[in-house]
Amino acid sequence: MGDRLLKVIQISDLHVDPQDPVGQKRYQRVRKAVDPLRPDLIVNTGDVSHDGLAKPAMFAQLSGWLDAFDAPVLSIPGNHDIGNKVGEEPPNISQAYLDAYLDVFGDDRFSCDHGGWRLVGINSMLLGTGFEREADQFDWCVAQIEQAEAIGQNLAVWMHMPLFLRSPDEQVTGGSTYWVPDPPVRDRWLNLLDRPSVRLVANGHVHWYAAMETRHTQWVWSPSLQGLVVDDYLFPRGGNAVGFISYTLSADGVTHELVPVESDAELIRLNYPDA
Ligand SMILES: [Fe+2]
Ligand SMILES: [Fe+2]
Repeated sequence: MGDRLLKVIQISDLHVDPQDPVGQKRYQRVRKAVDPLRPDLIVNTGDVSHDGLAKPAMFAQLSGWLDAFDAPVLSIPGNHDIGNKVGEEPPNISQAYLDAYLDVFGDDRFSCDHGGWRLVGINSMLLGTGFEREADQFDWCVAQIEQAEAIGQNLAVWMHMPLFLRSPDEQVTGGSTYWVPDPPVRDRWLNLLDRPSVRLVANGHVHWYAAMETRHTQWVWSPSLQGLVVDDYLFPRGGNAVGFISYTLSADGVTHELVPVESDAELIRLNYPDA
């Protein structure tokens, strides 16, 4: 690819049941908005289903829907696909939910190289589970980063959950813990990703748009495509949106743009102390 620009579109939190006409319409609306933009790649950051863990038979159809986009789609799962993070309300992630997802999607992480960039997707729902796959994934990600750095590539990393809401060393309490991994496992990943080669870390899950920067890295939250906007009092301000994110990756770094999609969005406020 040389120094050609790479265009990547992140779609997140579609939350569809393919048997439901509302879901069918939503999917068609997203296809119509994404395909004409002619991305090189699409990244699906999870919660594509509502709720695949209860009805895993829907995964085959959803996988077909993703394959039908004009560009290749790289997928990672969310909590509505394979269960909530450990310690949250049931249904929690289980080996059985994960296996049902893997049976259809084949994998819950991805890595692919485009010129000067390595794109990596991880299954953030595994964080804190203690599953063998969690340890494997961490080691795999270390190797991905080391290999990319050895050949001078930049990295863009995608996951369903954000690693933090406002700052990397925050202590999240109460209902807001739903959004992020618990501190010990969060810190392990933040330490791994805190390096000049990691230019972008992007997530879904929050149903809210945000863009932040730390020393080396841009942190981007994709809003949902579902039409449900969530305003948790700990989220950065200004993220009330429904849509997807279009990224341009180049030798100079990464830029992004929020692309709104029409919807009669419902907004819910969460965890405000006065609520
Ligand atoms: Fe979601
Ligand atoms: Fe989610």
